Amino acid sequence: MKIFVIFFAIFALVKSNVLERSKIFQDINCNIQDPDLDKCLLNGVRKSLPRWLKGIPELGVPPLDPLYIPKLTIDQVISDFVNITATYTNLEVMGFRNTVINSLKVDPQNLYGSIKITIPWLHIQTDFSLNGKIGPMSIENRGGHSEGNFTDIFFFMKASVKPYKKDDGLEYFKINKLHQEITISDGQIKVDTKDKQYQPAVEMMTSFFNQNAPSMLETASPIISKTSEKMTKNLLDNILSNIPTSEIM
Ligand SMILES: *[C@@H]1O[C@H](CO)[C@@H](O)[C@H](O)[C@H]1NC(C)=O
Ligand SMILES: *[C@@H]1O[C@H](CO)[C@@H](O)[C@H](O)[C@H]1NC(C)=O
Repeated sequence: MKIFVIFFAIFALVKSNVLERSKIFQDINCNIQDPDLDKCLLNGVRKSLPRWLKGIPELGVPPLDPLYIPKLTIDQVISDFVNITATYTNLEVMGFRNTVINSLKVDPQNLYGSIKITIPWLHIQTDFSLNGKIGPMSIENRGGHSEGNFTDIFFFMKASVKPYKKDDGLEYFKINKLHQEITISDGQIKVDTKDKQYQPAVEMMTSFFNQNAPSMLETASPIISKTSEKMTKNLLDNILSNIPTSEIM
């Protein structure tokens, strides 16, 4: 049996009669046997990008610009010294509409693929609360509002999928392995604390960050990549769980 695969569905789609019902698939009309499959997919994904950005409820894809994330928790255990749990709420990311897809590779036989993306500019704003400690200083329920502009974001992802059976008796794909590398070249942030008592200290920290943004962001890159990996995996598993493999084959 030949495998016609949807490799991570948000970015790459392979021809399927059933799925052609959906407008998104009109843009991506590739044959798995095409020796230039990667090129065909790349063109198709570029063409269909505006539709993905608007969101595709049938596939569980939320609107991506702005992207709204109700809640995100990140444990930032940087060392014994710094151990903070950051909870972000009402997080909004703007700017994905400028996404440039640099390259796309798929290996349908091994259900594997990779993608490289550049995002020229993102604006992020969020409410946040912090719990934990920095050295001897304990931080409980401190929070506020934060916003930032980030530029030249390089995104690399490789992933593989594997089939599994759902309760409905049909076979679906889910993410097997997923790896991301995210580099943010520069950024400027602004933080407003709820408790004005802390505002001067926070302003010292943010101005330190802003003056050293490229190296600070480089240090944060593994945390950013890991957090994004988890979110992407959930999103892609959700999308793939809406499309039986029989519709893809
Ligand atoms: C970080 O803090 C959490 C919650 O207070 C605690 O459970 C965990 O052991 C701490 N980790 C380190 C490395 O200090
Ligand atoms: C981010 O960019 C917007 C639009 O240019 C600007 O209004 C805002 O002040 C910037 N924020 C920061 C933290 O630099």
